[in-house]
Amino acid sequence: MRNHSNSIFVTGGGAGIGRGLAEAFHKLGNQVIIGGRREAVLSATCAANPGMSYVLVDVANGDSIRTAAHSVLSRFPPLNCVINNAGIQRMHDFSTAGGVDETGMVAEIETNLLGLMRMCAAFIPHLSRQPEATLINISSGLGFVPLARVPVYCATKAATHSFCVSLRHQLKHTPVRVVELIPPWVDTNLDKGRPRPAGRAPMALPQFIAEAMEGLSGDADEVPVGDAKFLYASAGTGDSFAKTFTRMNP
Ligand SMILES: NC(=O)c1ccc[n+]([C@@H]2O[C@H](COP(=O)([O-])OP(=O)(O)OC[C@H]3O[C@@H](n4cnc5c(N)ncnc54)[C@H](OP(=O)(O)O)[C@@H]3O)[C@@H](O)[C@H]2O)c1
Repeated sequence: MRNHSNSIFVTGGGAGIGRGLAEAFHKLGNQVIIGGRREAVLSATCAANPGMSYVLVDVANGDSIRTAAHSVLSRFPPLNCVINNAGIQRMHDFSTAGGVDETGMVAEIETNLLGLMRMCAAFIPHLSRQPEATLINISSGLGFVPLARVPVYCATKAATHSFCVSLRHQLKHTPVRVVELIPPWVDTNLDKGRPRPAGRAPMALPQFIAEAMEGLSGDADEVPVGDAKFLYASAGTGDSFAKTFTRMNP
């Protein structure tokens, strides 16, 4: 995608990866609107980046998405890019009684998967009417090779990848490009408060943002960053998948 003069809505744009991407696009001369549930966080991010705007949205709630979409599109009619970034991650152990947090499991699926799908449904009609538009869905390297202690999270990210492939096919005759950004383990609040494995360290957020922005400026549909490249490559993506997909989806 071109890296300037876009109008971009980023969910979860007040913190972590979403804020990093929002600020990077803002600095390049894009109109950036950030969304999330915590108004104080969104407002502080906008105060630190004059010209940036925010809209409250809870992507786990369909009505909230539809209200936010209406607000974003009426305030920013040239919107031509949506970054579906909002996400949460929980640990579950299906081998132990009480190891599964039912509420957390539903929240993960509603936020990471259903939320992303509802966001696509809410914005695609508008994006399809733009001369050029980009839908950036954030999955994870863990969607390609799971980390078993966060099994529901990994399943939502594998499903996000599958959904991106189908969406790209359905939208191929429209101006909407579907890009899947595939982060590695990045130092954010996603796993806050959890013990981190000894000898392993997440990618620093600024380094991730720099590499992600470089990847997004190219024409790849799937953009794995850092160590996510190894997970992505281990999962049998590539020519054989593309041939079989094309045979099934002429
Ligand atoms: N960090 C990693 O290692 C890593 C690796 C691979 C992929 N990812 C993906 O990258 C994305 C961003 O994660 P992060 O690492 O930046 O996590 P983070 O620092 O915890 O930020 C998550 C963001 O999502 C927003 N959010 C969460 N639930 C929401 C909801 N229901 N409605 C609207 N916004 C919501 C949060 O804002 P509010 O709380 O204000 O709503 C926050 O801004 C996620 O999709 C995550 O799965 C992260």
